[in-house]
Amino acid sequence: MNAVDFKDRVAIVTGAGGGLGRTYALELASRGAAVVVNDLGGSFDGQGSSQRMADQVVEEIRSTGGRAAANYDSVATRAGGQAIVQTALDHFGRVDVVINNAGHLRNALFEDIDDAILDSIIDVHLKGAIYVTQAAYKVMKQQGYGRVVFASSAAGAFGNPQQAAYAAAKAGLLGVMNVLSLEGREHGVLCNALLPTANSRMAAAMDPRQLEAFGAQYAAFGEQLGNAYLPEFVTPLVVYLASEACSSTHGIYSASVGHYARAFLAVNQGWTGPRQAPASADELARHFQQIHEVGDYSIPESLSDEFAIIQRNLGKQH
Ligand code: NAI
Repeated sequence: MNAVDFKDRVAIVTGAGGGLGRTYALELASRGAAVVVNDLGGSFDGQGSSQRMADQVVEEIRSTGGRAAANYDSVATRAGGQAIVQTALDHFGRVDVVINNAGHLRNALFEDIDDAILDSIIDVHLKGAIYVTQAAYKVMKQQGYGRVVFASSAAGAFGNPQQAAYAAAKAGLLGVMNVLSLEGREHGVLCNALLPTANSRMAAAMDPRQLEAFGAQYAAFGEQLGNAYLPEFVTPLVVYLASEACSSTHGIYSASVGHYARAFLAVNQGWTGPRQAPASADELARHFQQIHEVGDYSIPESLSDEFAIIQRNLGKQH
């Protein structure tokens, strides 16, 4: 038996009709999971809809003896999120895994982001992941087991020009993950976030100047790039995070051109000011280098953990 096994597990993969999501669905199914293949079936920028994309992946899974059911709802409404989870319950009786992967792209310079762009990106990437996960979490909590993966993005974690709306939604997912992992841990529900990179339909739809920059970066790898730009190179990390074998929660993991790593938010040693009256802005200016430089750091596991770190540093001379 594989160490990473999904026998008797039921997984929902949103946006699984193509790109990265399709590879997650196929791999989960090949390892024994019954999979709800959700996809709205629209274009890369979220226009239109069609059942074809989800149906094709379901067909692909069934043709190799796997179990799958299609769902065509948009993640972007509460009713859609509920219906996606209901599809899992109706067909397979439970939900063990949610991979929040559905999404579309509408890039614009910051000054050009209008409400249509902002709403559609936030609705699908941020609210959509919340809607689907909320409906599934109730089931997971009751059964005492669950795994949730949020497809965030390096654009949200680190930044990328022309993607302020997208980055806001993707960074928002890191916030959701941070909280749900704390709430879910005692119920056996583990949550992690993913920063993927792969040459998918969405990546190909980027601004030509960005594509050029990516092309140059890919080219800089030379022969060492191999095939590592393919979505299949992200898949093993996602499948691991979705499995019982994974005991990590509250993590942000990057899967990019065949390299896998942890990303994290940390606090440095910083500077401790006076205790009875606040430091002045001028004092802050004098100590700003110390506040700014990385040096030693800690990774808080929660808001109160950051407090505990500050307390530990109290009295240390900087
Ligand atoms: P893709 O465009 O190939 O796949 C996204 C899928 O989501 C499509 O099949 C689409 O029909 C579906 N979808 C879109 N809106 C939906 C909705 N409202 N409800 C249900 N399904 C919907 O894109 P790709 O590259 O596979 O992206 C997958 C995820 O990974 C996305 O969340 C994306 O933001 C994220 N990501 C991808 C990166 C990359 O390099 N490809 C980089 C960082 C993040």
